[in-house]
Amino acid sequence: MSPLPQKFTLRPVAREQVATVLAPFLARLNREPERHIGYCDDTPEMMVDTLARLSPVPVDTFRLAFEGERLVGAFGFDTDARLGRAWLFGPQVEHEAWHAVADALFTAVCPLLPEHVRKLELYYDVRNTRCHEAAVRWGFTSAGDSYVLRFERDGMTKVPHETAESLTPAHHDALKVLHHELWPVSWLTGEQLLEKQDENHRLLVLTEGPELLGYVFAKVQPEFGEGFIEHVAVAERARGRGLGRKLVAAALRWMFSRDEVKVTHLVARAENEPAVRLYRRLGYQVLHLMRAARRPFQRS
Ligand SMILES: CC(C)(COP(=O)(O)OP(=O)(O)OC[C@H]1O[C@@H](n2cnc3c(N)ncnc32)[C@H](O)[C@@H]1OP(=O)(O)O)[C@@H](O)C(=O)NCCC(=O)NCCS
Repeated sequence: MSPLPQKFTLRPVAREQVATVLAPFLARLNREPERHIGYCDDTPEMMVDTLARLSPVPVDTFRLAFEGERLVGAFGFDTDARLGRAWLFGPQVEHEAWHAVADALFTAVCPLLPEHVRKLELYYDVRNTRCHEAAVRWGFTSAGDSYVLRFERDGMTKVPHETAESLTPAHHDALKVLHHELWPVSWLTGEQLLEKQDENHRLLVLTEGPELLGYVFAKVQPEFGEGFIEHVAVAERARGRGLGRKLVAAALRWMFSRDEVKVTHLVARAENEPAVRLYRRLGYQVLHLMRAARRPFQRS
């Protein structure tokens, strides 16, 4: 890896800098497709919110790069002890010595990773070629591509008037079983989906007597005018009958029933043809083609 010229310094981020320095820097660069990182947001407000939810806190997980007193780079991570994973927030660099700064940040961030982390994940727009080059240099390999799809309120005029039922306890176990069958290693377990339900998180289902045919888990963040579909699933035996389409349409109706919501997003694996076709036919537009890249990690 290239050495970092002496004029640069690497520093931790102070608590008061998280909202005033780190979040605006990450959000500003993230708006450019050539610099886009999937875990980061495009507005400072959302970025502040995301950083506030991280555990451990950014003070312990981020490093900033300065040239003199000018901020030129930032890199950090979020972790999940259950999955033994770290999701890397960056590298975000604004300097012509992009790779040297990114390498120095990566080297500085690795020792901060907790013991339980066994795997590192980068997630970047495929147009972010410098991040891809760094990923290859650091020994990451591709773990697949996914689309970030966007749906704006205007598109609702073409969405069918579908409804789905709210989940009741009678189908809790069936939901956990179906969720685990489809996503045995997910950042959200079926149990967690059930626990998250509140006025901003909704599980909508389609049932036939005691049978659960499918579910959709959607959330809104009214303060940011955003909605997301996190999961949609139809039991294998019930697929190809329009139920997936019905669930997504019902979730869109629920999200846009909140006046504050202007736009919704979701992420779909690029090779998941049935899902991508379903979303595109309903009116979702492609915003990013993202690449996940992973590598094993062992703290030395
Ligand atoms: C994706 C999924 C929810 C679709 O549910 P479904 O009930 O089978 O979908 P629908 O019957 O409503 O079909 C909707 C569209 O997808 C198309 N489609 C459905 N199954 C398909 C398949 N196997 N191959 C290609 N297209 C398919 C349908 O033709 C339809 O398109 P059309 O409107 O052009 O006819 C379902 O396949 C599923 O649960 N998959 C596993 C979980 C998953 O991948 N979830 C999405 C994560 S992003």
